[in-house]
Amino acid sequence: MSRARLASPHGLRCEYRIGPVGIDLPRPRLQWRLPVASGGEGFEAEVQLALSEARLLAGSRWESGCRPCVDPWLDYDGPPLVSATRYFWRVRLRSSNGADGDWSTVSRFTTGVLDPKEWRASWITSERWESYLQVKTVMTPEIEEVCARQFVREFELPGAIVSALFFVCGLGSFELYLNGERVGDHRLDPAQSAYDRRSYYVAFDVTDSIARSNCIGIVLGNGRYLGAYGFGRPKLIVQGEIELADGTHHTILSDGDWLTASAATRENGIYFGEELDGRRVDPAWCLPGSDRSSWERAAVVDGHPLSAQLIDPIRVTQILEPVALRRLGPHDYLYDFGQNISGVARLTAHGPRGARIELRYAELLGDDGRPNRTTLRAARSTDGYVLSGEGEETWEPRFTYHGFRYIEMIGYPGVPDLTTLRALVLHTDVRPSGSLSLGNDLLARVHRNITWGQRANLMSIPTDCPQRDERQGWLGDAQLAAEEAILNFDMARFYIKYLDDIADSQLDDGSLSDVVPPYWSLYPADPAWGTAFITIAWLVYRYYGDDRPIRKHFDAMQRYVDFLSGRAEGHILRTLGKYGDWCPPGSILPKRTPVELTSTWYYYHDTSLLARLAEAIGRHESAVQLRARADAIRDAFNREYLRDYGYATVRMSPDDRTPGQTSNLLPLALDMVPADHHELVVEKLLESVEVHYDRHLDTGILGTRYLFDVLTELGRADLAYAIATQKSYPGFGYMLAEGATTLWERWECLTGAGMNSHNHIMLGSVDAWMYRSLAGVECIEPGWRKVRIKPHCVNNLQWAGARIETVRGMVSASWEMEGDDVLLIVEIPPSAAGEVYVPAGSVGRLEKEVILLESERMVFQGKAVNGTSYSGALGIARYENGFVRLDVPSGFYQFRSATKVE
Ligand code: BGC
Repeated sequence: MSRARLASPHGLRCEYRIGPVGIDLPRPRLQWRLPVASGGEGFEAEVQLALSEARLLAGSRWESGCRPCVDPWLDYDGPPLVSATRYFWRVRLRSSNGADGDWSTVSRFTTGVLDPKEWRASWITSERWESYLQVKTVMTPEIEEVCARQFVREFELPGAIVSALFFVCGLGSFELYLNGERVGDHRLDPAQSAYDRRSYYVAFDVTDSIARSNCIGIVLGNGRYLGAYGFGRPKLIVQGEIELADGTHHTILSDGDWLTASAATRENGIYFGEELDGRRVDPAWCLPGSDRSSWERAAVVDGHPLSAQLIDPIRVTQILEPVALRRLGPHDYLYDFGQNISGVARLTAHGPRGARIELRYAELLGDDGRPNRTTLRAARSTDGYVLSGEGEETWEPRFTYHGFRYIEMIGYPGVPDLTTLRALVLHTDVRPSGSLSLGNDLLARVHRNITWGQRANLMSIPTDCPQRDERQGWLGDAQLAAEEAILNFDMARFYIKYLDDIADSQLDDGSLSDVVPPYWSLYPADPAWGTAFITIAWLVYRYYGDDRPIRKHFDAMQRYVDFLSGRAEGHILRTLGKYGDWCPPGSILPKRTPVELTSTWYYYHDTSLLARLAEAIGRHESAVQLRARADAIRDAFNREYLRDYGYATVRMSPDDRTPGQTSNLLPLALDMVPADHHELVVEKLLESVEVHYDRHLDTGILGTRYLFDVLTELGRADLAYAIATQKSYPGFGYMLAEGATTLWERWECLTGAGMNSHNHIMLGSVDAWMYRSLAGVECIEPGWRKVRIKPHCVNNLQWAGARIETVRGMVSASWEMEGDDVLLIVEIPPSAAGEVYVPAGSVGRLEKEVILLESERMVFQGKAVNGTSYSGALGIARYENGFVRLDVPSGFYQFRSATKVE
């Protein structure tokens, strides 16, 4: 019997990253992609791991043995890993008939500090911080910040170096240097956290740049380690682990022998900006043998618990050239970068020593054509650079970032040009993993704005906005945008970290803060904000098949739900809501939607979702209890809010009879509406959208998240599409018409000093609907084990498609209309199954001929009557409300169906 040789797995990753350094998990997840041809049925995988590539090949290694390969990953469970060590591993497949595949190429990961007891370095600081006072910002009294300082340590190594790893945490923000050179390309390390609960250290492999004589240096700034948030003066810890060729091990530890001096960077603040005096830059500050007679010794201080920073770092991901330059005054120029971003400028200048150039950032222009900086509120967002006068100078701020499209440059000596400034796009460098293409220009632009807005709001935590005096991890914004973020970017490690942040912020009574990390202590959270804990854990499980956060945090999530129960009166949450269906058209406050209704709805949402999570990790008893509690909440919800005119709606005037959109659609979204009221509730929702609002939405951030899905589910994808493509207020098209390059916080175009950020991501949830319902790609079993392809060829949309790089490989669907035919091309990755709905006739128009072809073979033909089954080359198909549904294994497919055969 001839056995086709199995191809080898590829795309090896450890904890979602290729060759990561600093893994501090005892059982890291080893992941791979299956070869496309493997199909995925019934084979096993085997992993080998060793301390070097040579040992791996020579047999001195750990072997997992063959394990069923339901998912293309394995959580390492061999002998305990050792800290600061490189591990090499590879994987191969064995098919059910016993044939071994080829080994993959060898991949590696490097451990960090696996046991906190292994930290031998001391936390250090300076006793001489120069402080300056910043203005009061929203929610915070005056913020006191300090000028940056530098810290160094020289050391010699007695022999050839085999490996050198440094583990570094500098709070609030640091840059590492070795022998005068900056190490790595990260910005704004370390990741934000509740530093006293958990501070993140960054692992650097400097094997290639370390020498015999070395000077290691750190520039340390404020970041968010501020007294105003309950922290203190900046501090740092460094532990270097160095292996020499002679087998000896050397450690470099931060301690009181380190030296410190003030840095050339003076002011450095997230909201306020950065000031650097080029005359004070000493290029030798971090070179071995430099004169440091004026430096002082560092002081040893208490520190915080440390965890490895496993998320992708913040980096410069793109550099924008200005699209326009205008002179505003004698020494005043305006740069327009054409796009609202998060980042900083890079300035290139030539001029006299001591000349100061100021950069003022803005999202908007005023009617007078000058920057309008009022939307930034108390965030000064101003950088300053004093020229050293030594030839051409290039500078970019390192300890701040801004949300901007425009930069006003003041004080440039001479005449600047388009090359003087660049805009550096900065954010957590999550890998783009999804792409969406839409045959509707307006929606394509909405999608583009959303991805820009999403990028701008990833700063090691999900933020609300990048520009004004907030930039906080508002849980509501985070949970609403999370699915869209996951479809567009590889967010696994980002959200796993954020779930730790949320758990760290939980109080003993189970409550959470609206803002995490709780730099602003806003306990207890509005339930629509607190839901982030359970919602994001669910999304990580659903999209990455990763149940570890659920296992880790289940008890904490249960405590959170119990906290809600403790606050409920007869299962109704009357007191916890603060924001509710925030920012509907014409208002900040929820307007028509009672806040109690959304709070109680989220109480039901979280309780029933936690029941599913409990089931997923085998906590059956908890699942049963939660399910029963959820049923009781649902019944109470209906008793309390369901009326003869639909769900409770706040009337705007005594004779106002307009049904609420959010009130009616939320219960539909979770299937909470009693059967005998279903028709009424649907009717009220449609009446509101179609009659009262002329096919516009009247939803805030919560309602908007579900509006499109609910209408689509009701068979009204056409209406969802009409709302999404509205050009008039309120709608996404209106934002575009007013020049938006990201999404706004409000449906209105506001430009004053209130709540009107022009780069908020919380309304970006519509992007997930476009992926799931227009391109038609949906993950319906955890980790994309099952993929549903169900595109809606609605209205004038002629084509759409999405490609998503999942944990199983590429999932894609694209369709286009060819006359009355639709051509659908689908890719289901190995080890996944597909449930494909081929569009074949419009809703309600039954009794039509459906012709369905796979490639050039006709697989089905017949009268399409709902529920009719056909059998063909691909198995059994069923006609369901305008789609022919069929189940397929992994592979590539092409279908053509007639949508209009009379
Ligand atoms: C933030 C939000 C946040 C909200 C809570 C605002 O100031 O920018 O996006 O969710 O407050 O109400």
